[in-house]
Amino acid sequence: MTATGAKPIGARDEADAAQAVRQMFESIAPRYDLLNHVLSANVDRLWWRRAARRFREVLARPEAEILDICCGTGDLTMALLKLRPPGARPVLAGDFARAMLRRGAQKFGRQARQSPSKGKDAPYAIPIETDALHLPLRDASLDLIVTAFGFRNLANYAAGLAEFHRTLKPGGQLGILEFSEPGGFVGKAYAVYFRRVLPAIGRLICGKHGPYNYLPSSVGAFPPPEEMLAMLRQAGYVDCAWQPYTFGIAGLYAATRPPDTLETP
Ligand SMILES: C[S@@+](CC[C@H](N)C(=O)[O-])C[C@H]1O[C@@H](n2cnc3c(N)ncnc32)[C@H](O)[C@@H]1O
Repeated sequence: MTATGAKPIGARDEADAAQAVRQMFESIAPRYDLLNHVLSANVDRLWWRRAARRFREVLARPEAEILDICCGTGDLTMALLKLRPPGARPVLAGDFARAMLRRGAQKFGRQARQSPSKGKDAPYAIPIETDALHLPLRDASLDLIVTAFGFRNLANYAAGLAEFHRTLKPGGQLGILEFSEPGGFVGKAYAVYFRRVLPAIGRLICGKHGPYNYLPSSVGAFPPPEEMLAMLRQAGYVDCAWQPYTFGIAGLYAATRPPDTLETP
């Protein structure tokens, strides 16, 4: 059966699921960056940079309105900022876990970015504490929405895609970077690492076992690429594609809100 949204253990409904996810990220925020880099051997940095490069044309437009949703501690946001020109409109960086967002803002916020050494035109991001399913943004206001390793955690995937569609301008682009489960020999070897080794290291470093058991189980329950692409099309997107990264351990979904078509009389 197709997954409709994240279901942490014990969650009875979507509100419960969102609350459990938010609390989990609040609790691991102090160790999140360290764990990410250790558990991925820093490959995550390559993934964020590669995902950002996919949208380099829109990022290069100073007036473009860009949202990194589920930005967490801001590493994808930082990769986006590297491709923004000096003086560009600030990127919006949203997350509902305040402790994650606060850490992110220390990297991408105006104060951090526009220090005397970096200059007053250095691109920066504005942190927004928000739920991805209820964005405080006008209809058709964004040129680009990106999200890294956050979409899988939404309590309702269809509602997330609909909210992104609402806030994107016609012709606006969507990028979703997510884990996936590769097949073949690599898949088998990776499954051992992901399901056994990773939760053990996670437990050791952050002293909690819930979050790093949740990670492999949430990836296992997430729709495979062909289902995700079907969901994107069903939600009204066009030009939907999936680009696998590192043997398909992760991958980038790219899609576009269709441009308005002019009706000819
Ligand atoms: C695995 S972290 C990824 C953070 C960052 N994008 C990265 O690549 O490191 C997932 C983030 O999504 C956020 N998140 C999950 N569900 C959310 C929702 N419904 N609204 C806003 N943020 C959400 C969590 O708080 C967490 O910070």
